[in-house]
Amino acid sequence: MTLPQVNSARLMETLETLGRIGETPEGMQRLAFTPADVEGRRYVMDLMARAGLKVRVDPAGNIIGRIEGTKPGLPAIALGSHTDTVPGGGKYDGALGVLASIEALQTLQDLSLSPIHPVEVLDFTNEEGTSYRRWLYGSRAMSGLLEDADLKAVDDEGVPIGDRLKDVGGDITRIQQAVRCPGDLCAYLELHIEQGPTLQQNQIPVGIVTAITGRVALEVSVVGVANHAGTTPMNSRRDALLASSSLIQAVSAIAAEEEICRVGTVGMVKVSPGAENVIPGRVDFSVEFRDVDMQRLIQAGRRFRGLCQSIMLTSDVEVYVNEVGVTQPQAMCPRLSQAIHGAAQKLSLLTASLPSGAGHDAQSMAKITDAAMIFVPSVDGVSHSPLEYSDPQACVNGANVLLHTLLTLDETLD
Ligand code: GLV
Ligand code: MN
Ligand code: MN
Repeated sequence: MTLPQVNSARLMETLETLGRIGETPEGMQRLAFTPADVEGRRYVMDLMARAGLKVRVDPAGNIIGRIEGTKPGLPAIALGSHTDTVPGGGKYDGALGVLASIEALQTLQDLSLSPIHPVEVLDFTNEEGTSYRRWLYGSRAMSGLLEDADLKAVDDEGVPIGDRLKDVGGDITRIQQAVRCPGDLCAYLELHIEQGPTLQQNQIPVGIVTAITGRVALEVSVVGVANHAGTTPMNSRRDALLASSSLIQAVSAIAAEEEICRVGTVGMVKVSPGAENVIPGRVDFSVEFRDVDMQRLIQAGRRFRGLCQSIMLTSDVEVYVNEVGVTQPQAMCPRLSQAIHGAAQKLSLLTASLPSGAGHDAQSMAKITDAAMIFVPSVDGVSHSPLEYSDPQACVNGANVLLHTLLTLDETLD
């Protein structure tokens, strides 16, 4: 008997089409809440409707496409990911998961196969958190994990997040209604590109995620004194950038040399006043540490704060550290992971288990239902870059594993 398979040409065409929305010579710019994001979301909703899904947008702006099951009263199996990108991002991060989920349901419709469970495809709002520095926004809203600060967030232009949510069909005054009721869902599956090199290096087509990394995000401000770059002697400067440079080096050393946590990154730096003939008076920068072990993250944060104390003394600057987000590491569900393994075996695809160094909506969804993730290889392990690429066979393999995991769960879950 031939196994049902997704339509590979159609999947690749939708990836190409979505990949043109927000595309620039510097990579994808489909940042959450921007006109490109709104356009991409419209395309996703059209595809969902074409696949026979009933489409709605919840108060957090999440797009939910649903088909009812043939047996009444069962909870839904959810599939999903996100379609926002980082600045200068790629075409596969998030997009593959959403489009493959729609393709899986379109395939069922084409074959006149009706699942007994309801099935939902979820496209989550602002997963990347590039907007408002509040990541996994939609999935945290759905899982009841939003905090007060998430609701009150304001961007650099002073626009409250509630205004931006309206642009994508959300409503912050009702955001509590985005939280799913217990028993609404019985599983969440997310297909994603690996974004690292392991699968490609080992020539394994399918990864099964064991756990998703935790993350501590800090906002650091170093305050010195702005002064004339030509007249201020070297020994009487209070240069905020010079002091910051030691701290930035320390973030990398905490991970790479001291191995306190797995990775540490400074991704944003703002120097003020920012003129070539003025000694920097203030520097603001972001710090993030990631690890699958929360204790190691706490330790990395402590070590960094200790170094901030020392630099205040040695460089005569003030350092302020503000914790802007802590995301706990999250294990994936072994039973669902086993179903992924079974589906891959059916398709004669080798699998390997691996942790995820990137954050994913699955880590929020795991708080309210069983969750698991399928990874496919990323060429050269590149992601969050215009060079991000997964070849068509990798994408199609992932979509087929997603389809068959869905079919297995539909048969086996209550
Ligand atoms: C989300 O893509 C992340 O930064 O891990
Ligand atoms: Mn992603
Ligand atoms: Mn990403």
